[in-house]
Amino acid sequence: MKTMHLLACAALAGALAASHAAEGNPEAAKGKISMCAGCHGIPGYRTTFPEVYHVPKLGGQHPAYIVKALTAYKNGERSHPTMTGIAASLSEQDMADLAAYYGAKQEGGK
Ligand code: HEC
Repeated sequence: MKTMHLLACAALAGALAASHAAEGNPEAAKGKISMCAGCHGIPGYRTTFPEVYHVPKLGGQHPAYIVKALTAYKNGERSHPTMTGIAASLSEQDMADLAAYYGAKQEGGK
């Protein structure tokens, strides 16, 4: 179990080597994206939500940008009723994981 986990992390870290987002684990994000998917959609797909066009797309955003945006909502530097509430509940690790997940969608189509 432990070995497999380490191998998975190593593989993912390799895939993300180009990014500077520290320690984000896209695998760990998979349990967290359900909080985001309803509004931000599935990366690489267009959702059928009519409102989706004014929800920024996360897939393909630079991980560092995603972390920065989430931190800004949490800090109150940026404010939006929903995102402020959501970001407040995220730890730094959650943000890094989510950023790694969404950022890794880059090649998949924007
Ligand atoms: C209820 C709908 C909703 C949910 C759920 C939601 N978001 Fe958002 N998100 C938005 C909207 C709307 C904006 C644009 C807000 C603004 O204009 O500042 C946004 C903005 C963002 C931004 C900034 C994007 C940019 O281009 O600047 C990030 C990053 C982000 N959300 C990440 C997330 C993550 C990660 C989750 C899940 C943990 C999440 N959001 C959940 C609606 C949502």
